Amino acid sequence: MNRDHQDWTQPEPIWRENCTIDSFDPLTEDVTTDVLVVGGGITGITTAYLLTKAGKQVTLVEADELVNGTTGHTTAKVTAQHGLIYHEFRKHFGDEDASLYYQAQMGALRLMEELIDEHSIECDWVKEDANLFATTKQGAIKLEKEYDAYLYLDIPGALTEALPFDMEATKALQMKDQARFHPVKYLAVLVKELKEMGCAIYEQTTATDVKEEDCIYVSTNNHHTITCDKLISCSHFPFYDGKGFYFSRMYAERSYLMAIEPEKEIPEGMYVSIDEPKRTVRTAEYNGKPILLVGGESHKTGEGVDTSFHYKIIEEFAAETFGIKRKLAQWSAQDLTTLDKVPYIGPITRRNKNVFIATGFRKWGMTNGTLAAQLISDYVLGEESLFHELFKPSRFKTDPSMKQFLSQNFDVANHLIDGKLELVADRPERLRKGEGKVIQWRGERAGAFKDDDGQLYMVDTTCTHMGCEVEWNGAERSWDCPCHGSRFSFDGSVMEGPADQPLPDLSQELMPLDEHNHEGQEDQLEESE
Ligand code: FES
Repeated sequence: MNRDHQDWTQPEPIWRENCTIDSFDPLTEDVTTDVLVVGGGITGITTAYLLTKAGKQVTLVEADELVNGTTGHTTAKVTAQHGLIYHEFRKHFGDEDASLYYQAQMGALRLMEELIDEHSIECDWVKEDANLFATTKQGAIKLEKEYDAYLYLDIPGALTEALPFDMEATKALQMKDQARFHPVKYLAVLVKELKEMGCAIYEQTTATDVKEEDCIYVSTNNHHTITCDKLISCSHFPFYDGKGFYFSRMYAERSYLMAIEPEKEIPEGMYVSIDEPKRTVRTAEYNGKPILLVGGESHKTGEGVDTSFHYKIIEEFAAETFGIKRKLAQWSAQDLTTLDKVPYIGPITRRNKNVFIATGFRKWGMTNGTLAAQLISDYVLGEESLFHELFKPSRFKTDPSMKQFLSQNFDVANHLIDGKLELVADRPERLRKGEGKVIQWRGERAGAFKDDDGQLYMVDTTCTHMGCEVEWNGAERSWDCPCHGSRFSFDGSVMEGPADQPLPDLSQELMPLDEHNHEGQEDQLEESE
């Protein structure tokens, strides 16, 4: 890709550039397998790898292309420093669980190192310290408390006063010996290994429905059935709820990232701010040269202002702090947070022994994804693990889970009701090229987008998952659902679940269009008012 002529309306991570992963055909027949893994990101690929290596017959299906979802849009940090958590976890769960959380993450980091050594994977793996930094007095106090938790839990770290770049910090907290890497280079090798070991992989194959009887029967969008003994959902938001009520126990957040060649010196280490506005900074390799990834601006999915505004803010921050010699790429990522901030990894419900899920990794998908692969492989292979109990999805601790549960479901209920009552005044003929908006169409709320050639697309804005109203995301040209994070392309097709059905297309209600003459379209839109 020539980054000098980048179309900024098409956000694209740097990870795929000059780096490909083997591609696979869609499923074309019914198949039977020991284990079905759904989702081709780091969790699905690592789980399939570990189980295939242990002698299981594994089938892996991915709705899109491998490593094109959350994993493909990561900041690619491998760390146990997941924001300010250890002080909080000690308070809520006790010292033992807080310590187990750290050990589990470091175990995942070591597994990645072992795989890199075993297969001589060249994936720009660099051991570095991770750092949290504060810009306020209150933030500094929080970092001191977090450091106390590090000392108590034997987490190697240090408190410092300054940052190695032009930003005033009141305090910074280091966690030693963490890592960063190139996710596509790493996973491309694991996929090759999987292929050689005989794992069946299908892309463009969406698992749509599950029947649990003597075996598990999974239907796919291409009208085939996969019969398996064990089913593992690694599809970011679980594609199958199995009465686990995951839709009421997680929320989605979107954040933004930019790759730049800075004018100033590149700092070593990885940095995340704890005060608002949140910022993240890390070094990466790009065509053999060090560059910077700078990001932040998290907000609940579907609740942002015009999302292109967030890129503008990140760019201003990058220019002010590092100077921008060249902007290389920008993209956004979506992350899911559980009620108590600990991922859900394990059996989908307390009694289910055959269906497993891995989700709710927050912004730490590389470490948590690898950890999930380890824990679920242990479940499937019948091996005990110290960590199963802590990450088990059926856990429920009254504090903080209940508070978060009520707040999340209050938000969802609001979106269900508010969207329906909202008075929409915008008219579709007022859309400019490249613009999308919620409009009124025959007295109902609808979504309209006019592409760069003037072609108008209209969709029903009621999310096909559970009926919340989607909102326009201008930077990504997508319709995003604020309730559980489903995303749809401008034409209504599914980009990201849990929804597995497209938004109903209202474009066909328009009269047939002359591609070169949009006047007829606009006349008709006037009539519809
Ligand atoms: Fe659940 Fe939209 S994602 S209602």
